[in-house]
Amino acid sequence: TSILILNGPNLNLIGTRQPDVYGKTTLADIETMCRDKAKSLGFGIAFDQSNHEGALIDLIHAAKGKHAAIILNAGAYTHTSIALMDAIASVELPVVEVHLSNIHAREEFRHRSYIAPVALGQICGFGATGYLMALDALRDHLKA
Ligand code: DQA
Repeated sequence: TSILILNGPNLNLIGTRQPDVYGKTTLADIETMCRDKAKSLGFGIAFDQSNHEGALIDLIHAAKGKHAAIILNAGAYTHTSIALMDAIASVELPVVEVHLSNIHAREEFRHRSYIAPVALGQICGFGATGYLMALDALRDHLKA
């Protein structure tokens, strides 16, 4: 079973980007944590990041038939992208929405997620651990 872990704009900069908000863990660190965790659960993973909305949409389309589920941190596109929402609805793959920060405790414009209505669920506020929680959630979801 393979899971796509997909990261959106500016997430390539975490570790140094606003560390008070996003922590000091880099995206490469998160990838390593996810690979270890996925291995222990018997999953394979593909781990990707793009700053481009259309590239993220292409990766979601390409996931169909290739991956059993998607873990998505869409960054700021979470709050703006009807196109990403439509892409997720189109591929009919289970998606777990992840955010490092608690988007509901931040500026009002971050409270709205276009991903949430088409996601299995949302995990936010737990930093890098949220990705591992998402893998656990998918282990149970895909088993059921
Ligand atoms: C984020 C939250 C978004 O509001 C923000 O635009 C990001 C990162 C998070 O992981 O906390 O880029 O998705």
